[in-house]
Amino acid sequence: MEKITVLDKTFVKYIPVQEVNAATERVAQQINEDYKNDKPILLVNLNGAMIFAAELLQKLTMPCRISCIKFVSYSGMQSTHTVTPLIGLNEDLTGQRVIIVEDIVDTGETYEHLCEVLQAAKVKDVRMATMALKTDVYNRSIPVHYVGLPIPNKFVVGHGLDYDGWGRNLPDIYQVCE
Ligand code: IMP
Repeated sequence: MEKITVLDKTFVKYIPVQEVNAATERVAQQINEDYKNDKPILLVNLNGAMIFAAELLQKLTMPCRISCIKFVSYSGMQSTHTVTPLIGLNEDLTGQRVIIVEDIVDTGETYEHLCEVLQAAKVKDVRMATMALKTDVYNRSIPVHYVGLPIPNKFVVGHGLDYDGWGRNLPDIYQVCE
């Protein structure tokens, strides 16, 4: 088992990059089918979603645009249970079909908060495309429409996901060792 150290923690390889890429392909195919007659805008939640979003975007076949935001809820390996908008919405999304792009959905706090922000911005509708979903932790009633990788409740890094800012550049996804 390949182990690495990020800051003070040891991580073990969990999902190889080939599997992540296959998951992105599946998500793209679903979005291409669902939005074939639409022009959605992808709302990319920085920093974590940047790699997944860049890869997903190149696989989309309909005319589409992107807009970036930065709403954070995590510090280290813990949720703060407060969603802080470091970069907010910076364009008019009235009447738009929005697809939020995330690296990972955990409790769904960030997603729920973004849905409220987007509802107030009078968008037409909102869907979520996430590279990973912690299925056992997600406890909101809003559907998570496009899920690349359903994963258990363990802290992960790599492929955009970070531990205190580090580890995003790892192509594979690693899981923390107990
Ligand atoms: P939620 O608001 O609880 O759904 O948490 C979502 C946010 O927490 C994501 O955008 C990530 O930034 C961060 N996050 C949650 N779980 C992890 C993890 O295992 N690794 C890295 N970041 C995570």
